[in-house]
Amino acid sequence: MFTLEGKIALITGGARGQGAVEAKLFANVGATILIADVLKEPGQALAQSIKAAGGKAEYVELDVTSESAWTAAVAHAKKVHGGLHILVNNAGVSLRGKGMITTSLADWNRVLNINLTGAFLGIQACAPLMRDSGGGSIINIGSAAGMTGHFATAYSTAKWGLRGLSKSAAFELAEWNIRSNAVHPGIVQTPMVEQSPDFVAAMTRLTPLGRTGQSEDVASVALFLASDAARFITGADIPADGGLVDLGMYSAVVRDVKQSANKAI
Ligand SMILES: NC(=O)c1ccc[n+]([C@@H]2O[C@H](COP(=O)([O-])OP(=O)(O)OC[C@H]3O[C@@H](n4cnc5c(N)ncnc54)[C@H](O)[C@@H]3O)[C@@H](O)[C@H]2O)c1
Repeated sequence: MFTLEGKIALITGGARGQGAVEAKLFANVGATILIADVLKEPGQALAQSIKAAGGKAEYVELDVTSESAWTAAVAHAKKVHGGLHILVNNAGVSLRGKGMITTSLADWNRVLNINLTGAFLGIQACAPLMRDSGGGSIINIGSAAGMTGHFATAYSTAKWGLRGLSKSAAFELAEWNIRSNAVHPGIVQTPMVEQSPDFVAAMTRLTPLGRTGQSEDVASVALFLASDAARFITGADIPADGGLVDLGMYSAVVRDVKQSANKAI
């Protein structure tokens, strides 16, 4: 059920972090991967290593904010691979430490463009070819920051918007047999957070499953949604966060009370 044999998958931000793990996992179960990223050398190296392991992959240079780059990538998928079945809108940039008052317009536009408009352009460009390929699955990588109030205004706004976009796509594209779902990671050990060990540690303390997420924890959910195992799921928001958003608040409350003087809850 988790095979992607014969499927063509385009993964944005696929050159490193979670996208790279998704590329390897999807290739392992038979998909041909288009690693779409602005990072050329890591993207090419990853494609080579997937091919060396017996998989099918290539690097496609793509800035998700560029409409013409999307048009070219989709034309390439059609010409070289004959279709497209899976789109993972995974590319993203964070902007922690900038709140409502301190976010510049330039930063706001950059974060919204990459995290939200990039996914919109991707769905718009890819959906017709997915329809012509018999349907497919769109996976939008959101964030816990799009599930709760948050301190990083632009990033959180983009991720909340992505949920709406994902549901709109699910609504409109159902008649083309295209499903659209969103996955919301908690804290995941990738280059996005490697400069912020204290942030990672604090997020991990609030994660009831008691550890930092790994890219594999998110990639396996993406694989499920890409596969026929999820054939009746569309328009869903699926957390992959170790319980952070739903359970993190009371797990912190209970922990604090247990550490207090009289321990009465
Ligand atoms: N790491 C976390 O803790 C965490 C938590 C929640 C959500 N996320 C989300 O997971 C997704 C993957 O992030 P990650 O943790 O692997 O981080 P990462 O920084 O390792 O990877 C992000 C990738 O996106 C690519 N990218 C950035 N701008 C791009 C553009 N304009 N066009 C094409 N590609 C572009 C980067 O080159 C990079 O390969 C992101 O959407 C991120 O917001 C991450």
